[in-house]
Amino acid sequence: MTSTSPRPCLALVIGAGGGLGAALVQQLSADAEYQVLALGRNSQPALDYADEASLRTAAGWVAEQCAAQHADLRLLVVASGFLHGEQGQPERSWSHLDADYLSHVFRINTIGPALVMKYFLPLLPKQGRCVAGFVSAKVGSIGDNALGGWYGYRASKAALNQLVKTASIELARRNSQAICVALHPGTVDTALSQPFAKNGLKVRPAAEAASDLLAVLTSLTHSQTGALVDYQGQTLPW
Ligand SMILES: NC(=O)c1ccc[n+]([C@@H]2O[C@H](COP(=O)([O-])OP(=O)(O)OC[C@H]3O[C@@H](n4cnc5c(N)ncnc54)[C@H](OP(=O)(O)O)[C@@H]3O)[C@@H](O)[C@H]2O)c1
Repeated sequence: MTSTSPRPCLALVIGAGGGLGAALVQQLSADAEYQVLALGRNSQPALDYADEASLRTAAGWVAEQCAAQHADLRLLVVASGFLHGEQGQPERSWSHLDADYLSHVFRINTIGPALVMKYFLPLLPKQGRCVAGFVSAKVGSIGDNALGGWYGYRASKAALNQLVKTASIELARRNSQAICVALHPGTVDTALSQPFAKNGLKVRPAAEAASDLLAVLTSLTHSQTGALVDYQGQTLPW
């Protein structure tokens, strides 16, 4: 991540049990620049957005790792997300809008990452380059919405994008070299996309998407903080 600090660098992936999250952990583990920490519902300690205390505990554990290794948390990637599951399916029409589905999709895509900001952004170093990337989605772009549908997922990611922009401003006050962005990974071959991957759609392996996102995170400049950036490094409209 090209920090000039002589201290070891830690990278943390949240949502490490997902298709994209696991690929990010695998690739970062092969990068000699980082010690990699991985958190999710099945890690030790566990991190579950349904339980705010689990985020507080997990952040305390990360702070302990930094102190024990005399290391700095230089990279945070949040790869959690929800589109479909036992809590419901994305809506094709307003007639499908369902309060329980909306509540869950906002809990996982918006409120959970907001709590990550609360507990983990303060762990980033106050000096030198560091990057926080929150995996969002292009369908959260209001300017890009030409197809409609997927009300809850779109709205939850649009709200995440606003949180990222807001956090980037606060983060820059602590560290003028810190970068905080929302990321669009493209359509990736994971459980999340599987029911919706149509013929003709470009679906990429998770390893390729992870590699692209890590390359983007490495090359971002401070002028891009607060933006929604895709896997090719292009800034997308809000
Ligand atoms: N796949 C695509 O085509 C695509 C396209 C655009 C954007 N995205 C975005 O990419 C990100 C990664 O998605 P994916 O494709 O890898 O999906 P996935 O395989 O279904 O992974 C879902 C992730 O969400 C986490 N998660 C779910 N419920 C959680 C909870 N209660 N608390 C904490 N974490 C929870 C899981 O983490 P643990 O299992 O570790 O707890 C897992 O990392 C998401 O933000 C998604 O919206 C994906």
